[in-house]
Amino acid sequence: MVPEQDFLTISTIWSQLAQRAEQDKSLHLADLFAADKTRFDRFSLECSGLLADFSKQRLTDEGCDLLVKLADERNLASWINALFSGEVVNSTEDRSAKHWFLREPADKAPLVHEQLGSMAAMVNRILHGHWRGVLGDAITDVVNVGVGGSDLGPLMAAFALQSSLPPEGLTRPRVHFASSMDGSQVSQVLQELNPRTTLFLVSSKSFTTVDTLHNANTARRWLARGLGLSPDDDSLLRCHFIGISASPERMTDWGIVSENQLLFWDWVGGRYSLWSAIGMPIALTVGMEGFREMLAGAHEMDQHCRSQPWEQNIPVMLALVDVWNINFLDIRARAVLPYDGRLKHLPAYLEQLEMESNGKSVSRAGDPVDYDTCPVIWGEVGPNAQHAFFQLLHQGTQAIACEFLMTARRYTEDVHSESLAELEGQHALSNANCLAQSRLLALGERALDPSLALPSYKRYHGNQPSTTLVLDELSPRVLGSLLAMYEHKVFVQAVIWGINPFDQWGVEMGKVIATDMLEVLTDPDSAAGLDSSSMALAQHIANKQGK
Ligand code: F6P
Repeated sequence: MVPEQDFLTISTIWSQLAQRAEQDKSLHLADLFAADKTRFDRFSLECSGLLADFSKQRLTDEGCDLLVKLADERNLASWINALFSGEVVNSTEDRSAKHWFLREPADKAPLVHEQLGSMAAMVNRILHGHWRGVLGDAITDVVNVGVGGSDLGPLMAAFALQSSLPPEGLTRPRVHFASSMDGSQVSQVLQELNPRTTLFLVSSKSFTTVDTLHNANTARRWLARGLGLSPDDDSLLRCHFIGISASPERMTDWGIVSENQLLFWDWVGGRYSLWSAIGMPIALTVGMEGFREMLAGAHEMDQHCRSQPWEQNIPVMLALVDVWNINFLDIRARAVLPYDGRLKHLPAYLEQLEMESNGKSVSRAGDPVDYDTCPVIWGEVGPNAQHAFFQLLHQGTQAIACEFLMTARRYTEDVHSESLAELEGQHALSNANCLAQSRLLALGERALDPSLALPSYKRYHGNQPSTTLVLDELSPRVLGSLLAMYEHKVFVQAVIWGINPFDQWGVEMGKVIATDMLEVLTDPDSAAGLDSSSMALAQHIANKQGK
């Protein structure tokens, strides 16, 4: 076990970093670039189809060296080793965190590949039109019913990859997602679908999440009504439901037949689970070969993270840059801005990955921390965000770190040739906007003309730091590398901060209180004793409902 180390803020290296930040605070990115033509070369890294440029961060060589020393002082090498040796790194749940193990080759991880094999058999039956509904129809629509990690990862990746060609000779079903607890998505999706040709994936690591179980129950009733069968009918369950979970017992209790159960394990955290059978919607989109490519890309990033010195290590450097921004430059928010619309759901995925992992204020030893941890993360497709919140990035009062993502190659054989030239032009336009925005944020009005004399309301002060990530292309392989990069970045930050990124106790108590509140809503008289706001709101709703 890696020895615990507290007292981060009283360490020498921490004070040196604080001093460095104080010394550098008057530096402007425009001056840093003007003074050093090689800045990009020194502050950018490339690996596995990804280029990470952090030269537009407010960082100097001296600051960078100190951050690397901080990583050493926090025993980063031992922690990475502990993660990849399957040690218990999630102490509050007494578990290892072996999501990386899902990307290991078959000879190293036979158990994992056994489940992948079962998933492949199901995926291929669906894609070949051999999986039949209870009345003999081929499946045209698959609905993933899940929430959190059982929704955000598969949704993001399936959406990102859906413009690639369907696997040759196979018919890709339409894949839908239903997560929202209030039934708004499931009711909408069901309105459009035919029960005879619809298959549901009930995805839940715990198989206790009420959001998912209620959506699954609604789907089950809908199927039973539409097919004229009992909701407990064995063939209805066999032909229309696949379960994906770490709890075979609970899947069986709910009604998933054993042949339709895909398993993963306690040592895979929900938000790290898209590499397991939870990723089935991705496999239905790109085929099993594509899914295995995504695993291979992630595995490549695992190897990179384990082997490269910190200065050459993309996830480590991205983590250290974030620590610099958050803890030394006092930048408490990061905007994720993909300039490729296929990455539309990446911000929501990262919101969970980063904020559920590192939104912690207690150290691994159980003591309150006296420094900031995870910033607020939000985002939007970049060009759309330009017309929404970029005003604040350019002229607001907050310092905000931005993360730009763009793809080098895009439209190829996957579009009709008549529109190829136009679409290539649109891709170039989007990339030009990405470069323009990161340049303007960094340099301010000096990006256009240093001699401009502008009225105050037209000025751009710049010096807003950003990182740009360029993907060679948005293939399953490169997407796999990108996502594994983020996972490791989150882990490295947690090591620096001395917190556990693999639990999520902060989401538990709300679930308990919600059970009480359901009672209050059914019987508003039982609200007496609650705080006046909750009591009045429950009463107000009851009045409006005529109760
Ligand atoms: O409530 C938070 C959470 O536990 C997430 O960590 C998880 O991804 C999500 O709920 C869904 O959990 P499950 O896959 O067990 O339904």
